[in-house]
Amino acid sequence: MIIGKIIDKENNDLSKRIDKQKVPEHIAIIMDGNGRWATKKGLPRSYGHKRGVSVLKEILKASKKLGCKVLTVYAFSTENWTRPTKEVDFLINLFSEVLRNEIEEINEESTKIKFIGDLTPFPETLKKIISSSESLTKNNNKFLLNVCVNYGGRQEIVKVAKELVLKCCTGEIKPSEVNEELFNSELLTRGIKDPELLIRTSGEKRISNFLLWQLAYSEIYISDVLWPDFNEFEFLKAIIDYQSRNRRFGGIESLSNESNQDSQLPS
Ligand code: FPP
Repeated sequence: MIIGKIIDKENNDLSKRIDKQKVPEHIAIIMDGNGRWATKKGLPRSYGHKRGVSVLKEILKASKKLGCKVLTVYAFSTENWTRPTKEVDFLINLFSEVLRNEIEEINEESTKIKFIGDLTPFPETLKKIISSSESLTKNNNKFLLNVCVNYGGRQEIVKVAKELVLKCCTGEIKPSEVNEELFNSELLTRGIKDPELLIRTSGEKRISNFLLWQLAYSEIYISDVLWPDFNEFEFLKAIIDYQSRNRRFGGIESLSNESNQDSQLPS
């Protein structure tokens, strides 16, 4: 099935190589390299972030075209507060500006937007626009865009642990009832399938405290391209690479549904 003509140097249409039946339902992205992209061009880092927004729009469109259902992007980590105030302020303003400019179109396309992370330290103006964007789009069901802001995977796990301990203390649940399902139900991503694919740009080979629980069995694709230069073509390359993987989930491909001692070993 042709998804849209995306031609490589040898004139091959990459979209023809996509198996529509094997498109990941949920893709997580660490959009890395904005600062380096700008610095390389002799521009302030903020230019990289601005350009990063256009790339996100392109990838959102490409994801929908492919038939993917959920995109979760890392826009601001709990560690990003250590950046110079000027850059932090710029990013905070950029989030508000993007929401103000794009929310109408996001809503028209029946996309639901959700912010994941601790919003407490953000200014009221941003909190308000986040809240109105979330409530405007809450019933949309074609696509889900999760934006992780002031998010940290360890912090999320500690939060869940605290909530479960509290429920044990009040007798709502028994310690013996704590299992993965219950843990999942307390995550900030509750109700959302774990990402099948994580894409990180800029060549860094780290998870950087992103979705630590949810990425347990995700395929990881590292692109050397800096986020502001990432595009639909690079995105399709990631999907094609993902589709060539043999996802065993710790088992053995041909025996994945049979009980086998070795399949218990991590791979
Ligand atoms: C990482 O590059 C990128 C960020 C910290 C910010 C990404 C944010 C956006 C693209 C805006 C998205 C906005 C909305 C509302 C969804 P970096 O600065 O860490 O790059 P470096 O590693 O080269 O320094």
